Amino acid sequence: MSVLEKIGSEEAIALENKYGAHNYHPLPVVLSKGEGVYVWDVDGKKYYDFLSAYSAVNQGHCHPKIIGAMMEQAQQLTLTSRAFYNDKLGKYEEVVTKLFGFDKVLPMNTGAEAVETAIKICRKWAYEKKGIAEKAAQIIVCENNFHGRTTTIISFSNDENAKKNFGPFTAGFIPIAYDDLEALEKVLKENKNCAGFLVEPIQGEAGVYVPSEGYLKKAKALCEAHNVLFIADEVQTGIARTGKLLAVHHEEVQPDILILGKALSGGAYPVSAVLANDAIMNVILPGQHGSTFGGNPVAAAVAIAALAVVEEEHLAENAEKLGILFREKLNDYIKESNSRIATLVRGKGLLNAVLINDTEESDTAWNICLALRDNGLLAKPTHGNIIRFAPPLVMTEEQLLDCVRIIITTLKTFE
Ligand SMILES: Cc1ncc(COP(=O)(O)O)c(C=O)c1O
Repeated sequence: MSVLEKIGSEEAIALENKYGAHNYHPLPVVLSKGEGVYVWDVDGKKYYDFLSAYSAVNQGHCHPKIIGAMMEQAQQLTLTSRAFYNDKLGKYEEVVTKLFGFDKVLPMNTGAEAVETAIKICRKWAYEKKGIAEKAAQIIVCENNFHGRTTTIISFSNDENAKKNFGPFTAGFIPIAYDDLEALEKVLKENKNCAGFLVEPIQGEAGVYVPSEGYLKKAKALCEAHNVLFIADEVQTGIARTGKLLAVHHEEVQPDILILGKALSGGAYPVSAVLANDAIMNVILPGQHGSTFGGNPVAAAVAIAALAVVEEEHLAENAEKLGILFREKLNDYIKESNSRIATLVRGKGLLNAVLINDTEESDTAWNICLALRDNGLLAKPTHGNIIRFAPPLVMTEEQLLDCVRIIITTLKTFE
């Protein structure tokens, strides 16, 4: 079968069900094309994409500048491994470090790999710079975190479904409540072996939990006071999603270690990165960490283009403006609605969630997403009763208002 052969949706779903591991529960829609804020299914039906591949497609589907860079580079050189230099990586490293204000970058591919990398850097820094005794370093993490799926990362998840029967787990993590500065201060004071504090500036997968204003700034100050690295996982919140280039910029925080992924490539290619200054990054020496594909020339060319699009098209400003409008319109609806199918809208920029008035175990949010699909908009529950709304940031105001109309009309049918 040619990879370009067309198949119907029933056949596509049946093939995935039969030959693919069942590690996801996709909404039943089979997509075959994307452009900007739109995707099309195999039958040619057009939808607004309100998930953006979990905030990876911030620059919109198949952005011509990003795809152009990818195609041009793919015809030139795709992979050298880091055994040799390539003529694109250094340029990309210059662009990404200058843009985010760090001395160095360590390139990887997926978000989870970048989180693993940050953990390794943090631990090595703790032993070699901070002077923590061998194997004693602890990293503080937050309850209800989501940082990926590797064995070490799920070791500090408190999602039973993500963990059950995958043990034994990696030690060295101290969980505290999210958005709780007292808890953070207590651990920092009581435990001299703390090396880092790993935090999502907004907890995306948990249901778009926005911490109290000032939380990140104060948490960073506490970390500084205790010589503990503040590690921001901006895999989901970064690259303009929340209305600033980084979500930590809302509080003028510069992390010690920054983790990026997803929209670093505009969703065209797996590109992730860990950024830090020399005093931290230079603990990593040849042979101590790496990836065959990390820093390959296609990734470098794609990421340069993807970051340029964010700046050229003012995506952070657009996300900020449309996010305010989105929450305003949904709040108006929630206030007016008598039956209260939706009880709350929360978020920042274009990373938002609507709470559905039913239990976590109910399938109401799922059924609403099926109805949204029928009405031409694709979104997915993060939990049984929370729907995340995260469209590409290239959306226009007119398109957003059309989407708000679809969402409210659909919600009304569930009242
Ligand atoms: C905050 C955060 N960190 C890490 C990851 C993992 O990224 P990946 O799926 O590319 O491994 C995700 C994915 O959703 C995420 O939201």
